Amino acid sequence: MRVIECQSTDEAADLVAHEILAALADKPDLVLGLATGSTPIGVYERLIAAHRERGVSFARVTTFNLDEYVGLAADHPQSYRHFMRENLFHGLDVDPANIHFPPVDGDDLPAACAAYEQAIRDAGGIDIQILGIGSNGHIGFNEPTSSLASRTRLKTLADKTLSDNARFYAEGEEQPQLATTMGIGTILDAKRIILQSFGHKKAQAVREAVEGAVSSFWPASALQMHPSVTFYLDRDSASRLTMRDYYRRVRENELRLGGH
Ligand code: GLP
Repeated sequence: MRVIECQSTDEAADLVAHEILAALADKPDLVLGLATGSTPIGVYERLIAAHRERGVSFARVTTFNLDEYVGLAADHPQSYRHFMRENLFHGLDVDPANIHFPPVDGDDLPAACAAYEQAIRDAGGIDIQILGIGSNGHIGFNEPTSSLASRTRLKTLADKTLSDNARFYAEGEEQPQLATTMGIGTILDAKRIILQSFGHKKAQAVREAVEGAVSSFWPASALQMHPSVTFYLDRDSASRLTMRDYYRRVRENELRLGGH
């Protein structure tokens, strides 16, 4: 596990975008696992800039989103399909046929979720999974007590998640209580995982994820089981970590040895 405390959210976005673009240069048919929320927006802006200003092509890339609300139409401003269109896909040349979201309707949702898992396998697995983290430690919509072996499925959103996201809904507007999400087992199958976390509100979740015990009560702690995870944090999100000096020294040594 690598923990990188950045000077700013811009520095974190620069580093993550750089890694994705380097991986894309090596593998033009990269398979990306994508997240929504405010946290990855800086990375998405940089990917769009690379495409527009330097002609970097995403034409052969395949994407799988982590999660989606059940009960919102694809064009609802709060749906994750809408979010991804507005914040990433509108500015890239990804083939719409290669863009995937977890299923949210149909007669047999469990079968559709199993088909989503199969589509990920058929694509050769996720090369890089981008993650944010909820203030309750969720990844995707794997709420506390999610099985660490879970696969794509329907989840009921936790009270904390509902209250964190209530600000996005107008007074009286119905807020979805259900979502489909890749499972923790699905996420752990990715070859590489990058989690970004910004802001004080996430400091406890980051502390539990990085330095706490592996527990379904803090779902992001399951990332400790993965061999290639990097946490990119701003100072506020890193503020409750007890080994910050050590993570800084590790980083200094990496840079000295020629990392980026
Ligand atoms: C939602 C998403 C998560 C995301 C989290 C944090 O709950 N399902 O995937 O990581 O929000 O959002 P933000 O980045 O806006 O803090």
